[in-house]
Amino acid sequence: MDTMTITKAGGAFCGALLVLLLGAWAAEGLYHVGSESHGDEIVQGFAIEVEGGDEGDAAAEAEPEVPFEEVYVSASAADGEKLWRQCASCHKLDGTNATGPHLDGIVDRAKHAVDGFAYSDGLLALEGDWTPENLSGFLHNPKEYAPGTKMAYRGMDDVTDRANLIAYLATQGG
Ligand code: HEC
Repeated sequence: MDTMTITKAGGAFCGALLVLLLGAWAAEGLYHVGSESHGDEIVQGFAIEVEGGDEGDAAAEAEPEVPFEEVYVSASAADGEKLWRQCASCHKLDGTNATGPHLDGIVDRAKHAVDGFAYSDGLLALEGDWTPENLSGFLHNPKEYAPGTKMAYRGMDDVTDRANLIAYLATQGG
């Protein structure tokens, strides 16, 4: 072998090695992409299974919860007082209005009954009294209970919290 042959052979070998390395690198990239999308599929499949499976059933059983009326019977006004903070930025309990109408005596008070408070049409459309049940419905989701209300409050999900808060409000006579 002369020098030229050795150089050529070396060059060919290096070239082949480079192609091999590039190939391996590309294959690895493809493999990773493939395995990731495969991973997603697994996760999705799992999520669907869970929704229709045991957990879904458990949630469906737990969701209607204990009815508000039952929870309200043993509600704690003391615990409710701590939740009042969520309302105190807009409501007062001393007979004066703030962003919202005063809420002393609110339990069993007629809806939108505070003279001089500019209620929204959404609230004015409501009928009846603020019974504990009605208050619970409103506080659970104000925008759903009174579409168009200007009360900018997200809602209180927990039925026990609502019962406790309403029990506290019931102690705040007007
Ligand atoms: C960001 C201010 C804000 C917060 C927070 C807020 N409210 Fe209100 N609330 C209002 C406004 C404004 C109205 C009048 C709504 C309307 O006219 O649409 C209102 C109306 C009400 C009414 C109807 C009163 C009536 O005379 O008919 C009740 C009951 C009530 N709020 C209870 C609560 C409770 C309980 C909380 C705390 C969990 C709370 N609100 C939190 C602003 C607020």
